[in-house]
Amino acid sequence: MKIRVFETMHDAGLYTATCLEQVLQYQPNPVLGLATGGSVVPLYEQLVRLTDDGSEWAGATTINLDEYIGLAPSHPQSYRRFMDHHLFNKLHDKPHHIYIPNGNALDLAAECEKYDQIIRNHPIDIQILGIGVNGHIGFNEPDSLLQSRTHVVKLREETIESNARFFASSDEVPRKAITVGVQAILQAKRIILLAFGEAKADIIARTIAGEVRTDIPASMLQLHADVTIVLDAASAKRLSKR
Ligand code: F6R
Repeated sequence: MKIRVFETMHDAGLYTATCLEQVLQYQPNPVLGLATGGSVVPLYEQLVRLTDDGSEWAGATTINLDEYIGLAPSHPQSYRRFMDHHLFNKLHDKPHHIYIPNGNALDLAAECEKYDQIIRNHPIDIQILGIGVNGHIGFNEPDSLLQSRTHVVKLREETIESNARFFASSDEVPRKAITVGVQAILQAKRIILLAFGEAKADIIARTIAGEVRTDIPASMLQLHADVTIVLDAASAKRLSKR
């Protein structure tokens, strides 16, 4: 794993946006795996700036990791709205294909299967991840086993509490989500995970330097050959200098 520690989230966002921009520039029909949440906001700000002539996006496909179940795409806290607001609506040319799981699908099992087929048809060149305080990636929550495929997940209490900051209260946070499984994440050619702030310091140390365990889903990234962990000083605080 490569570890990059930046002074500010802005610098970290710029570094990561540059990595994505290179893929968009040089890879024919690039496929970007994208995440939502506070950690990726500076990345999308910089990516919009770096790709403002728009041409880079013309042949691109984006595949998001997850979506809440039960929120309409137009709901202010749906991940569809997040992506439109922070990225897609700000681009001159939209990506050729934009995929985000449909958390309102009547048949959720069919939606999960359909999403896996989309990922099989579009192997991911670069996957962006955040990390939950409990070590989740996508919404693969800590458990005694992890699902390899796209699935419906019951969100853990700590995830609901942590995401309550985006809602009026924790009661409004959906209890379930659709998430891609660990297979889709680990099959991406390259992975960049972003984490900022002291609240992530503990889980980052356990992800990078601890055992590979299903109750720390992000520790699975130790098994991938090309992972970069992008941090600030606060989230890197519990890593040894080596
Ligand atoms: C969201 C996602 C989640 C978040 C994680 C961190 O698409 O996949 O794994 O990346 O919950 O969220 P923030 O960045 O808000 O702390």
